Amino acid sequence: MNKVTVRTLKKLKENKEKFSMLTAYDYSTAKYFDQAGIDVILIGDSLAMTVLGYENTNFVGVEEMTIFTKAVAKGVKRAMVVTDMPFMSYTINISDALKNIGNMIKKGANAVKLEGCNDYILELISRSVQMGVPVIGHIGFTPQSQNVIGGHIIQGKDETAAQELLKQAKQLEKAGIFALVLEMVPENVGKFITENLNIPTISCGAGRFCDGFVMVCDDLLGKFDDFTPKFARKYCEMKSLIIDCATKYIKDIKSGNYPNETEVY
Ligand code: KIV
Repeated sequence: MNKVTVRTLKKLKENKEKFSMLTAYDYSTAKYFDQAGIDVILIGDSLAMTVLGYENTNFVGVEEMTIFTKAVAKGVKRAMVVTDMPFMSYTINISDALKNIGNMIKKGANAVKLEGCNDYILELISRSVQMGVPVIGHIGFTPQSQNVIGGHIIQGKDETAAQELLKQAKQLEKAGIFALVLEMVPENVGKFITENLNIPTISCGAGRFCDGFVMVCDDLLGKFDDFTPKFARKYCEMKSLIIDCATKYIKDIKSGNYPNETEVY
């Protein structure tokens, strides 16, 4: 069993092999995804909504992301562990950003993910890589900027916007990212960017032609139902399973069926 590294993902792209990425926020889920053979596990700031019940990702902070990073890292042997740097933890100044980024690696992450592309982010990426921290970029719809964007809006829809995304992707690649998440962009834009980069792209609602694919684990498992993006595919119905189990447990207690004679000391 070889640990997935930046070199593994690069080779997969070169060999035109797709790779898988899922979010996980706790020890046992991460352990099972790892056992299943997932390539990359992301401690996504989506945990703000799925785990902590916040309205959006901007409410989560470094301390919370640190706790979930530690838990996930303990459960994983093979997959690459990536932590999302939360809102405002990397945009105030380079020095604090590098401290926060380095701290995630000390807690068990193998890499971090940063949203956006501007001169500051490009400098931060190259400084992080110099410091020894691999970085995944994230463009297209960037949830931490949703108040500026004005909602969950598909990006890169016209030629100018698509060309701007390609320009950003190339700048990020040059700055040193080893992979790039493309969120909520038309499929042809995902394809176009993928074909024009040497590093792997990861589709988060960017169509079928990216090198890797990511999904929020609660969407995959049918656990979170406040909203579900179009690109999510539900592989089971954990919500009804949880309600069903709790209902049966309550019924068994009321009827005296739990605990039985094998469940006592
Ligand atoms: O926070 C998250 O879960 C993410 C992915 C879905 C890419 O950023």
